[in-house]
Formats: sequence, C-alpha cells, structure tokens
Amino acid sequence: MSIHGHVFGMIPRRRIDIGRADIGDLLGGIGDSPDAAAAQVRAFEHQASAMLGGLWVRATASGRDALDLILDGLGIGVGDELVVPAYTLGELIVRLQGRGLRPVAADVDVDTFAVTPQSVARAITARTRAVVALHVFGAPCDIRGIAAVAAQHGLPLIEDCAHAFGARIDGRPAGSFGSAALFSLEVAKPVAAFGGGLLATASSELQAAAAAHLDRRRYNAWPAARKALIKCLEEFAVRSPAYGLAARMMFREQEAGGFEQFYRGLHDRVRPADVAFSGFQARRGLRRLAGLAQRNRHLNLLWGELAAGLPPEFAAQARARCGEPAAYNFVARYSGDLPRLRRRAQALGLDLAIHGEVLDDVAPMLGQTDCPGAAQVFAEAVAIPLHLGIDAARLRRMGEILAAVSRP
Ligand SMILES: Cc1ncc(COP(=O)(O)O)c(C=O)c1O
Repeated sequence: MSIHGHVFGMIPRRRIDIGRADIGDLLGGIGDSPDAAAAQVRAFEHQASAMLGGLWVRATASGRDALDLILDGLGIGVGDELVVPAYTLGELIVRLQGRGLRPVAADVDVDTFAVTPQSVARAITARTRAVVALHVFGAPCDIRGIAAVAAQHGLPLIEDCAHAFGARIDGRPAGSFGSAALFSLEVAKPVAAFGGGLLATASSELQAAAAAHLDRRRYNAWPAARKALIKCLEEFAVRSPAYGLAARMMFREQEAGGFEQFYRGLHDRVRPADVAFSGFQARRGLRRLAGLAQRNRHLNLLWGELAAGLPPEFAAQARARCGEPAAYNFVARYSGDLPRLRRRAQALGLDLAIHGEVLDDVAPMLGQTDCPGAAQVFAEAVAIPLHLGIDAARLRRMGEILAAVSRP
C-alpha cells in the first residue's frame, strides 16, 4: 500500500469542542451580575456533586488552585514531604516546591503509567504528610490499594482526578476514595468549562477551610473570558488549512519542546488565579456534565478501535485494570525511534505528541534516580489524537498512517 500526505492536511492533536451555545454563553457571561453568576455556579457545583456521589464540591480557578486549597486545608506546609506520581505534570512539582513542600516521586507501572500501592509505600518516610495519586489519562489507578497504604500510615490521600471526571471503580466515582480530590476543567478535559477546576471532599474541616477562602474571592468574569477567547482563536487556527504546515514547524525535535513550553507559558499568563468561578463557565460546565456519559461512551469506543488497530510496535496504556476509565488522551508506548515516528507521521498528516508534550517524568526534577518505570514511560510515550473531531474516515486514515510509519 502506498500512502501520501498533503502539505496542508493534518489530523490535529487536540480539538476543542466549541459550539454556538458556548460562544453565546461566553459573550453574554461577560456582563453577568455577581449574584446571577453565583446562582449558576451553585447549580453547576450541585450537579457535579450529584455525579460524584454526593461529595461536597466547589468550583475553583483551576485544578492546581483546588490542589493548593486542599493542601492549605490539610495544614501541609513548608518542609513537609508529599508523595507524588513520578509521571505527572511537571508544573505541579514546581508549584509544590514554590510552596516550600518536598515532593517525593513514587514510580509508575509501565503498562498502566500509574503509581501502585507498592511504589507509594516505598516513597513514604517519617516526614511524609500526604499522598497524591493520579488517575492518569482518565484510567483509574489502584486507588483502593493506595488508600489502604495511606491509611496504614495515617496519611491523607489526595486524588488527582484532573483527567478523570466520570471514571468509576466498582461503580464508585473516582474522587471519592481519598480525603479530597481535584478535577481540572481545562478545554480538553472530560468536563471542559473553558478552564477552572473542582475541589471535592467529604471532610468537614476541608470544606470549612476551602469555603472560607473561596467565599472571599471577588467576582470578575474577564480573566476567564479572555482565556476562553484565546482558546476560541486557537481552535479557529487548528481548524484552518494552514494548521498542517504550522504543526510541522512548531513540533520538531530541533525545537526540543520549545513550542510546547511557550504554549504552557502563555497558558500560565492567562490562567485566572484568585477570582471566583464565572457564570459562563458554570453554564458551559453544566452542559458538559449533561453530555458527559455520552462523550465518555463515544470516545471510549473510539479508544478501543484505535487500540485494536495499532501496529505491534505500540503498547497502548492498560487503562481498564482497576475500573472504568473516563475518556481523555490516547497514549501508547512506542519501542522505536519516536522523533522519527513523529516526523514521518507529520509528513503524512498525523499530528502526534511525544515525550514531555504528553506528560513529564518528574523524578529527575527531584534528583531521584529510583523511578525507572516513569523514565521508560516518558521516553516511549506518544499521544495519538483522540477527540470528537475523529470520525470513521479519520480513524481509518490514522490506522493506515501508523502502519506505514511504524515500519522500521
Ligand atoms: C496530572 C494533572 N494534575 C493537575 C493538573 C492541573 O489542572 P489545571 O491545568 O486545571 O490547573 C493537570 C493539568 O493538566 C494535570 O495534567
């Protein structure tokens, strides 16, 4: 079979689901009164709580903001150790260190990419004050086993559900197994509200501490609206024919992740910090909650079809070992030359993310050399597009391209 690319055709790595209703909400929301917005936000939190088994839920400025509030509420501060996954978002580690905390990485399994009860137990010391477990790319980790280890040591467990709204373990929602959970509402996440986050907990002390903070925040819809407008522009660019050419220029080995760093830096500058969640985000969040089950079903099916058609050089994430996943990124390990794979895929019109564009190995950032699982996952990780812009024809085309480019 011969297969040819086209200089302008590219199946993009991410697509943001923006419809007319979202644009209407966004523009209308800039003028919301604080009271009207607060009512919308309460409705959104109420619905999220119902879908999380009745946990107390509050909307926050971002997932990382929710993590800060959880750490504050738990009284975790300067000099305290925190067990974190060795394979996670590097910016979280920088943020934790900025608070004076000492993150200690627990290694991950090379098939599930997740921490295990054993790796968490190995990372705990006499100075540990909490454990953070991540349901990576929406796939439940062995949260029951990890909760048992944390309980044995008398430590609070924080569930990082940034990717995992809607994941379930034995019918129980991810986020309901620890002392508290954080969710991200970023644009490509299962519940995307143009950014923002959720804090969920059953602990009354944490509720009181978080509410005291959140209730003091002033209402200003502009920072979230500005960010949402930038995202709309980005989506417009991704849908344009010039994206194929731009992606080839932005994502190259010579750039050493330079564009991705620039992109994350831009995000940092426009991420709302300590303002209240806005009314238009709440309205969009409510719509996304209503469509969540269908979205997860659809993308999980697509995930399965993509995995079933992968050439043997790829090992897709083992994501259903501990429960039902929420649909987020499709990530596989690839045993060959990744930059070459990406280059060849780009030339044929498929936009793959690799290495730190997928997620980070944070052990080296912490001076640790005892996390070989995370090192391997990081070195071999490739994200293959999985979003609502993938239809049957694109899925077929992706299968053909992957088969063509993975041959040595
Ligand atoms: C593993 C993980 N935890 C936490 C977060 C933080 O979420 P946010 O970007 O909403 O602050 C992210 C963001 O992508 C993440 O990937």
